[in-house]
Amino acid sequence: MRSQHRFLLAGVMGWPVAHSRSPKIHNYWLSQHGLDGVYVPLAIEPGRLDRALRSLAPLNFSGCNLTVPHKETALAMVDRIDPGAARIGAINCVVVDKDRALEGRNYDGFGFIASLRAAAPDWRADAAPAVVIGAGGGARAVVVGLIDSGAEEIRLFNRTFERAQLLAGDFGRPVAAYPWEEREAGLENAGLLVNTTSQGMTGQRPLEISLRNLPGSAIVADIVYAPLETPLLAGARALGNTTVDGLGMLMHQARPAFRDWFGVMPHVTPALRKLIAATL
Ligand code: ATR
Repeated sequence: MRSQHRFLLAGVMGWPVAHSRSPKIHNYWLSQHGLDGVYVPLAIEPGRLDRALRSLAPLNFSGCNLTVPHKETALAMVDRIDPGAARIGAINCVVVDKDRALEGRNYDGFGFIASLRAAAPDWRADAAPAVVIGAGGGARAVVVGLIDSGAEEIRLFNRTFERAQLLAGDFGRPVAAYPWEEREAGLENAGLLVNTTSQGMTGQRPLEISLRNLPGSAIVADIVYAPLETPLLAGARALGNTTVDGLGMLMHQARPAFRDWFGVMPHVTPALRKLIAATL
């Protein structure tokens, strides 16, 4: 933790960045913990990311979050990359170390698993296969979280099969890629279904998948958080399955970043959830 005698600073770099809910989350925690500081949105054009990151230390920022489109490009710009971020292939959190070096981390996988455990405390990664839909950055974070939690079988489905194969190839066992057309058959005896695509987001079409083959005991999670209940989650809830929305992942990934910058591990509370849900 940095000295408490200085004003604490952190922010989120994105382009655009106005949609980001991170300032609300971190400023809520700063205030709850009585810390003197602020977390700001930083609109950084892609061509200026390197210079913006280099400005963190001289401006006395503790670090920043990164959002679209900076998560992957930042890998080549920081001084150190922690093993989790290297495996995901993206950075969502930069920490300015004591020696002023920039360290890239990624807490999206942590956020997904923490949110899942909060909503379904009895979930066990090794109890049944997990089905992951999508093969982008969100899918990589979810897959790393599942592997680190002990998942023994992860069935991956993506519209573009080659991307699913690439991802499965990067992680090896326990991940296997299957053709898009087989996604409904793939729900057989699954314990978890996760949508990591943008389908179901406000303005997008719902994810096309029938849950007919999904066991009633399976948990259905979405990383989309706007709307809070996507058509996929509404369908799962109607069938009686436990559902986990994307807002939990968003809030939980922020916790270790706050801890790294400011030295306190904050909590996700109903009050915080209400505050952020009101903005969706
Ligand atoms: P992110 O890094 O946020 O995950 P991304 O790399 O653009 O974003 O990945 C988006 C995911 O949504 C991909 O898996 C994409 O499938 P493709 O690899 O085939 O593009 C998936 N996706 C986007 N539109 C889709 C659609 N209409 N139907 C099914 N999947 C879709």
